Amino acid sequence: MTDSAENVLEVRNLQLEFSSDGKTVPVLRGLSYTLPKGKVLGVVGESGSGKTVHALSILQLLPPAARISGGEILYRGKNLAALSRRELRQIRGNKISMIFQDPAASLNPVLTVGEQLTETILAHRKISKKEARLQAARLLQKVGIAEPEKRLLEYPFQFSGGMCQRVMIAMALALSPDVLIADEPTTALDVTIQAQILKLIKDLQKESGMSAVFITHNLAVVAGIADDVLVLYAGECMEYAPAAELFKNPLHPYTQGLLKSLASVHNKADILPVIKGHPPVPGEKIMGCPFAPRCPHAFEKCRQTCPPLFNKNGRQVRCWQLEDK
Ligand SMILES: Nc1ncnc2c1ncn2[C@@H]1O[C@H](COP(=O)(O)OP(=O)(O)O)[C@@H](O)[C@H]1O
Ligand SMILES: [Mg+2]
Repeated sequence: MTDSAENVLEVRNLQLEFSSDGKTVPVLRGLSYTLPKGKVLGVVGESGSGKTVHALSILQLLPPAARISGGEILYRGKNLAALSRRELRQIRGNKISMIFQDPAASLNPVLTVGEQLTETILAHRKISKKEARLQAARLLQKVGIAEPEKRLLEYPFQFSGGMCQRVMIAMALALSPDVLIADEPTTALDVTIQAQILKLIKDLQKESGMSAVFITHNLAVVAGIADDVLVLYAGECMEYAPAAELFKNPLHPYTQGLLKSLASVHNKADILPVIKGHPPVPGEKIMGCPFAPRCPHAFEKCRQTCPPLFNKNGRQVRCWQLEDK
């Protein structure tokens, strides 16, 4: 959140819409953040809030129905939307890489893990095949896969879900990127494996000094990993703050609700819907604050006009309760 640090990635007023059957549905409504070098930003929000499309916008990998209708994304000051395909290919994987939720779907089932890793390396580095293979083995070792030489010869189906995600992490780190975007990297895994993978990502991020955008629907997941947290709701930033402050003293009623539901998960076997109701459906006309229909503190103004982001001691909060009277 600081201005002084070197910003690797900057998202400025990003607006994105989907079109189908002649109808246009806004999905991101002006998202802004800065990612300083070596820091981790957690982007948290319920399913459908726009987390994945935001990540795909960064890599310019959006589906054809999506359109960036405003704003810009800067990588080290360069506007990614203005780059040629060639320049983008140089950045993807090499400078900015991504891990997705479903590791099995991201790996090619007909190629061995070794072939996929060496291909990734050789696409960007002028080294021999033999050297690339050595690097691939080293990478597998680094992500905690035993007997890497042997496992390089195996196919993705021979790896468990957690092991597949380790391979994906190795793949994402193969070219020592500047920025790692991890989109729900542990959601498809068992709880104990989740914790191991989270720790692995955190350790590797610290060791390499890369920056990361860590996307999750589960606020608890970013507690130990993020420096800053951005809470997304219906394509809108609700709160953006240093993680420690956000967890200690959430200012937005939505963040407060998310934290309360975490507490209830620890106490009860199933998730209690502390925040009643559901987010607006895409394309639904939103008057006022998108969270107002579910907000325990909403008053008339909240239902009429969407609040701007208010600055509160270096934090940003979209809530009329925080307007200076
Ligand atoms: N391929 C698509 N076609 C049309 N709309 C889409 C598509 N992908 C995503 N959307 C819309 O964008 C919104 C945000 O999606 P997404 O970024 O996947 O959410 P999240 O990752 O937070 O669950 C969804 O609510 C949906 O309306
Ligand atoms: Mg998603």
